[in-house]
Amino acid sequence: MKRACVIGWPVAHSRSPLIHNYWLKTCGIDGAYTKEAVRPEEANAFLTSLAGHGYVGCNVTVPHKEAAFAAADEIDAAARAVGAANTVWLDGDKLCATNTDTYGYMTHLNLSAPGWQARDAPVSVLGAGGAARAIVYGFLEAGVAEICVFNRTRARAEALAAQLGPRVKVHDWETREAGSRDAAVLVNTTSIGLNGVGSLGIDLSGLNQDCVVSDIVYVPLETELLAGAKARGLRTVDGLGMLLHQAVPGFEKWFGVRPKVTDALKALLIADIAGPKAC
Ligand code: ATR
Repeated sequence: MKRACVIGWPVAHSRSPLIHNYWLKTCGIDGAYTKEAVRPEEANAFLTSLAGHGYVGCNVTVPHKEAAFAAADEIDAAARAVGAANTVWLDGDKLCATNTDTYGYMTHLNLSAPGWQARDAPVSVLGAGGAARAIVYGFLEAGVAEICVFNRTRARAEALAAQLGPRVKVHDWETREAGSRDAAVLVNTTSIGLNGVGSLGIDLSGLNQDCVVSDIVYVPLETELLAGAKARGLRTVDGLGMLLHQAVPGFEKWFGVRPKVTDALKALLIADIAGPKAC
């Protein structure tokens, strides 16, 4: 029986077991996927002795993504672009690492808003953390000519642009509204709106009517940003699809079957996000 897990500190909040155990069950695979609470000082030792712990691979969540990147023997281009890994697997004795956030975001965007690239326009990325890096890299790979990054801490956006190249343009956070008017896609990669806390403070009325508005926050599923965009008749892309699609490559590596993101899986996650219902 093959076993995989998610490591983090803390790890209790992770929804990865819900996704992978659903696929194990529906694909009829004799496997297991569990949570492992691993202290930061133990992350490297855990990752470099995965087989000894009985695992063929794992997902990696906060704060171990950089440790996984450092521990890996082989790192692919996506993980290199982000400087962090969220998925590792064993190839013989070798520990291989990738970052599947780029795949997850771009796959969900392409499926949910086909033609988003029809108008040759820049995209606007709010935030410059790890998720922003993965998404900017995805837009670069998709051939977008200009990616505008708006971040509260400008130096972080500058570091991102310096690494990912001249098609990434850095803008002051205060200019996010005016600077996004022509955008083909506006994506929030910050934690603003998570659990309904905070507001991006953007008036969406100036956006191009073709703009696709996207949020990586998925709790709540319909953030203030997405609700505002829907009210204006704009196409929206939620954050849950990124979470679901980013899980696909890891499952395939560990268990040898490429799983499907279905409406039933999405419904399972939505029910979990909504929490236990009152009697
Ligand atoms: P992740 O790896 O999930 O992207 P992160 O690296 O902690 O998370 O990045 C969080 C992002 O949200 C950052 O861009 C952060 O801006 P700073 O670089 O200025 O910290 C942004 N962010 C979080 N809270 C914010 C707020 N209240 N206003 C503006 N930006 C915020």
